[in-house]
Amino acid sequence: MVAIRPDEISSIIRQQIEQYDQEVKVSNVGTVLQVGDGIARVYGLDNVMSSELLEFEDGTVGIAQNLEEDNVGVVLFGQGLGIQEGSPVRATSKIAAIPVGDAMVGRVVDALARPIDGKGEVQTSETRLIESPAPGIIARKSVYEPMATGITAIDAMIPIGRGQRELIIGDRQTGKTTVAIDTILNQKGKDVVCVYVAVGQKSSTIAQVAQVLRDRGAMDYTIIVDASASEAAALQYLAPYTGASLAEYFMYKGKATLVVYDDLSKHAQAYRQMSLLLRRPPGREAYPGDVFFLHSRLLERAAKLSEALGEGSMTALPIIETLAGDVSAYIPTNVISITDGQIFLSSDLFNAGIRPAINAGISVSRVGSAAQTKAMKKVAGKLKLELAQYDELKAFSQFASDLDKATQNQLARGARLQELLKQPASSPLSLEDQVAIIYAGTNGYLDDVPQNKVTDFTKGLREYLQNNKPKYGELIQEKKALSDEVVSLLKEGITEFKQAFMAA
Ligand SMILES: Nc1ncnc2c1ncn2[C@@H]1O[C@H](COP(=O)(O)OP(=O)(O)OP(=O)(O)O)[C@@H](O)[C@H]1O
Ligand SMILES: [Mg+2]
Repeated sequence: MVAIRPDEISSIIRQQIEQYDQEVKVSNVGTVLQVGDGIARVYGLDNVMSSELLEFEDGTVGIAQNLEEDNVGVVLFGQGLGIQEGSPVRATSKIAAIPVGDAMVGRVVDALARPIDGKGEVQTSETRLIESPAPGIIARKSVYEPMATGITAIDAMIPIGRGQRELIIGDRQTGKTTVAIDTILNQKGKDVVCVYVAVGQKSSTIAQVAQVLRDRGAMDYTIIVDASASEAAALQYLAPYTGASLAEYFMYKGKATLVVYDDLSKHAQAYRQMSLLLRRPPGREAYPGDVFFLHSRLLERAAKLSEALGEGSMTALPIIETLAGDVSAYIPTNVISITDGQIFLSSDLFNAGIRPAINAGISVSRVGSAAQTKAMKKVAGKLKLELAQYDELKAFSQFASDLDKATQNQLARGARLQELLKQPASSPLSLEDQVAIIYAGTNGYLDDVPQNKVTDFTKGLREYLQNNKPKYGELIQEKKALSDEVVSLLKEGITEFKQAFMAA
């Protein structure tokens, strides 16, 4: 039973009578009818726009979401504990926009791009709408340059290009965040602006991420947008769009950008919470009907711009957390269908010590080798095939008692390649290092190295090449290709190093 308040009703009636013969009524002040759970219902805001910002008497800001016949459903950017029933609400005639600019780089901001790192105001002169339309077809160009992650398994088998959207998907604690952070670390010195958007994460996790980025000097080119689990659902809902807007500013200036959305499962949950409280009809898994659009309009903003627009790019790495590896749940299937491929991290591999726990069999990049350097393309071709054969043989060989020599060799090769792709967190590798170790693996140089020595071997080889064959690295960096000269330098280096390694 809703208690009827005669004074309120009579005041509404009086207002209606007063405005009875008024033709155009410009009213941008309304009255709070009801407030609770981060949602307010406001009466009398007839001319409000969808997504307009509204100000309450106690200073709380909200965003108009449901424009209904007799009231407006407002989602609050806070608890709204000071809002009283019957108090006035002022429409600001502004759609949610954030300040953007070069000064944002290196800062930690909240979902409305307000600094929260205690370093004072951000000096910017421009603003951008939080929700802006994605570039159209004419404005785009196909993806062709690599966005190197520094993770050998990804750069070799699931290459990501600038302007691509690649999903990182896996169960909890499988190294999803680590893949994204390593990619940010690997952009050092490459003139890429990175944005890390944390949605619904524990504040402790975000603090750790910020610490890693700061320690490794990555904050010089990174912005962190933080809407942790303790923030209002509306802020968690807005944070990814804010991150995209911050990156767009740089993209339209012709720069390469990288945005990580960590993670969109929690983003969808925040939106579900908001929608249910606004009494929108629930659909599958209680998500509202437009949850696909929630993510598609966000990820469509990633692009590689045409030459006319300055060739800037926004690469998006959305993250999705699955439950027990179930990629066919609602949100995972949605985001898989929106993105240009996925990196699947499996908890079985992670627990077996294969880290990064990338399941190469079901991971894909639809941009593929278009986004690989010539050098990587040349060495990586064989790698995926040999690993796939290894996986198949391994399952089969568990039943066979004696295997022929060829099969044994293939198993030995596969085991070494798998070992070679292991990589600890926060240690991205350069192109020349990746090419060198893959070359050694796929050309059989590791076949007689004991499996538990492979990591030592690859580490030693990288150092040896750096110290004794500096020309090799320079040539690859310059041409990004495997010329005869490079190959002979590499072969020489590997042979020399191996001799010393095996003797030791
Ligand atoms: N390649 C790696 N080698 C060794 N340890 C790793 C590697 N990748 C991740 N880890 C460790 O595994 C743990 C989980 O990693 P991470 O936080 O990246 O996973 P996540 O999938 O993002 O987890 P969550 O579901 O909690 O968000 C961390 O302690 C991290 O240091
Ligand atoms: Mg994580």
